[in-house]
Amino acid sequence: MSERLQKVMAHAGVASRRACEKLIEAGHVRVNGSVVTNLGTKVDETDRIEVDHTLINQEEPVYFILNKPKGVITSVEDEKKRKTVLDFFKHKVNERIYPVGRLDYDTSGALLLTNDGKLDYLLTHPKFEIDKTYVAKVEGIPSESELDKLRKGIRLEKNVKSAPADVKLLKKVGENEQDGLIELTIHEGKNHEVKKMLQAINHPVHKLKRISFANLNVDGLEVGKWRPLRKREIRDLFELQNQENGKNN
Ligand code: URA
Repeated sequence: MSERLQKVMAHAGVASRRACEKLIEAGHVRVNGSVVTNLGTKVDETDRIEVDHTLINQEEPVYFILNKPKGVITSVEDEKKRKTVLDFFKHKVNERIYPVGRLDYDTSGALLLTNDGKLDYLLTHPKFEIDKTYVAKVEGIPSESELDKLRKGIRLEKNVKSAPADVKLLKKVGENEQDGLIELTIHEGKNHEVKKMLQAINHPVHKLKRISFANLNVDGLEVGKWRPLRKREIRDLFELQNQENGKNN
């Protein structure tokens, strides 16, 4: 459906409709590569609209949670042609969604996908300290004093320390109860952070699953399945930002 350019721009969050008209008249806006100054210009979803050379997002924001299986890459495409998390959405979701943050190839669990750059920023910026909870099967049984090191923050590599984490031993597993199942909540997003933390106390991870991300979990969602977020879940995610702003007031 074609609509007036200024309406589409305002809808995409560029500015108010009146301010968008001014941008158009002042020559800041291109449609499919050409500057457009006529306020009567109509566009549709297939048109490429740029404001000062930045592409605007014409799509309605959409939000999904996937229970990612292991053996799938958290990326929009893979040069090695491995299966990506987007393959689960092919032919079912037309919006240009992408994963928020990442899970390793061999990690399973809760992964949010959206086309909403604002939410992506909110959930991945370290200042918002979004909780992520993992269950890890580790080699051996960590002692309480080892887990305390993770609770306080531990050196992962030169000049890199993990922030304090919530950690508990859930149970002992394996034929002879020789291994541990650990639940761990972190609010950072360093690369391979959980694996590095547990390696740092000499209990390497054999299996890793993210059971929750912010207020979202994969309860009732089979591995490899996804669902749209509920209105309330979306509202709660945006609320996290207000809570952070409240902390600073
Ligand atoms: N930490 C890891 O080590 N791997 C993940 O996939 C996520 C967090």
